[in-house]
Amino acid sequence: TEQKPVSDKNAAKVTLPDAQIVQSVTHWTDRLFSFRVSRPKSLRFRSGEFVMIGLMGENGKPLLRAYSIASPSWDEELEFYSIKVPDGPLTSKLQHIVPGDEIILRPKPVGTLVHDALLPGKRIWFLATGTGLAPFASLMRDPDTYYKYDQVIMMHTCREAGELEYGRQLVESLKDDPLIGELVEGKLLYYPTTTREPSEHMGRITDNLTSGKVFADLGLPKMNAEEDRAMVCGSLAFNHDVKAVLESFGLREGANSEPLEYVVEKAFVGDGI
Ligand code: FAD
Ligand code: A2P
Repeated sequence: TEQKPVSDKNAAKVTLPDAQIVQSVTHWTDRLFSFRVSRPKSLRFRSGEFVMIGLMGENGKPLLRAYSIASPSWDEELEFYSIKVPDGPLTSKLQHIVPGDEIILRPKPVGTLVHDALLPGKRIWFLATGTGLAPFASLMRDPDTYYKYDQVIMMHTCREAGELEYGRQLVESLKDDPLIGELVEGKLLYYPTTTREPSEHMGRITDNLTSGKVFADLGLPKMNAEEDRAMVCGSLAFNHDVKAVLESFGLREGANSEPLEYVVEKAFVGDGI
């Protein structure tokens, strides 16, 4: 068939692969925002997984980065929780999206922070710093999390209180959620801490586990390999140090192919350890 010439603007539009439409955007701090996009009808994922998302680069090639899906698998839309890196190739632009804009989303979810990678247990610990909360924002809203465990402990640590706000409001909203409100009741223990600004609970996750402070504060027994499972998501340095703490309690790192007591994912590729 005969091809009609198209203007440059239209050409860019029709060649945008895997486009999804931005539905809403919330800015939490000058370094953090969340947004919701339309969900491809065919996309199935397990809570805790990540996908590649991005924008069309100036060179006409997609500029993609890994992002944890922050919404639960039953949600009609997809939610993401993002850093704003001032000179970051993607987020220097992504932070300016508004409803109606298009983003690129490759519908191939993968990741290790999935229930299948852990042996059954009594309690599950979600351990996150910064945007490492994102996969747990999904898992905390997944009914399976509450069917599988008696108690769910969300430890989230940031430098300042404002950086906890997305997680705090999400946890608060779960109580009134028609789908999982009743499941969450009394089962979800939220333990946010700051390290560089005063707040109710303070200190690094590693220190609060090692000292036993978090167990005392929440009235829980010391972490042990028989009852406790953990999922970890933070910087490379954080992941490295938490692994050592979990191993000291006798937990072993599992994978999809070999489920054990804990699993780890990078929240971002950073400056090493
Ligand atoms: P980049 O060139 O990618 O990063 C520049 C520098 O910024 C990095 O070297 C690092 O020092 C810092 N940085 C990057 N991302 C972060 C971050 N999230 N928190 C703190 N410092 C950071 N990012 C999210 O915001 N939300 C997510 O849910 C998320 N999920 C990820 C899942 C996986 C498996 C991986 C590997 C990364 C994930 N990231 C996530 C990081 C993301 O892929 C990008 O690095 C981030 O969007 C910045 O992109 P950029 O192009 O602007 O800068
Ligand atoms: P701290 O303020 O004591 O460094 P960052 O913004 O540097 O990624 O850190 C996010 C949060 O994670 C901060 O509260 C920080 O505490 C904490 N953190 C950073 N590195 C580690 C680590 N290796 N072990 C435990 N907590 C860490």
